[in-house]
Amino acid sequence: MGGRSRGASSARRADRRLSLGGFGSAWHLAVRFFGALSPAGPSPQDACWAEERLSPPERELFARMSGPDRRHGIGVARDALRLALEDGLSESELPPGFAAAGLLHDVGKVRSRLGTFGRVLATVLAIGFGRSRACRWQGRFGSEVAKYLAHDRIGAELLEASGSDQFTVRWAREHHLPAEAWQLDRVIASYLKEADGD
Ligand SMILES: [Fe+2]
Ligand SMILES: [Fe+2]
Repeated sequence: MGGRSRGASSARRADRRLSLGGFGSAWHLAVRFFGALSPAGPSPQDACWAEERLSPPERELFARMSGPDRRHGIGVARDALRLALEDGLSESELPPGFAAAGLLHDVGKVRSRLGTFGRVLATVLAIGFGRSRACRWQGRFGSEVAKYLAHDRIGAELLEASGSDQFTVRWAREHHLPAEAWQLDRVIASYLKEADGD
């Protein structure tokens, strides 16, 4: 079987994961929740692995992310690379900024002050009321929820301002959109989506 046909099956698997309005599967959300209870950052070896794949401005953004978010980004980048290689692609066939896209796709969360429980509540509210409506909320808690839910747009703006590759910028912007709305190559993006489960 060719790499691209295997890639198509990855895209279909990613499509099926879009089961909670773009927020991923309940299982992945539960895994993220319990993982986020530990504030620890990545191991020194994992941090080095990440920094080797980031530009100096991207490293500064990465350092601003919380410990659980940095661990999550490293997990996504590593798993996405593994899925691409298992599909028969080589690293040189992946677009520039592919690993950085995994590492930094959630960087927009640095603008929100919500903790783990606040994030869970924001996600539940967005599922219940609709993401676009919740993104317009105001007030002390409402504006934090709105910023958290807009982390895709905010992250894309931060990465654009840091001179990141267009792939990295676009994936930050598109990673909560349904697959049919992606501007990026759907097979390539599906590796990141499947690794994310967010
Ligand atoms: Fe996200
Ligand atoms: Fe994520």
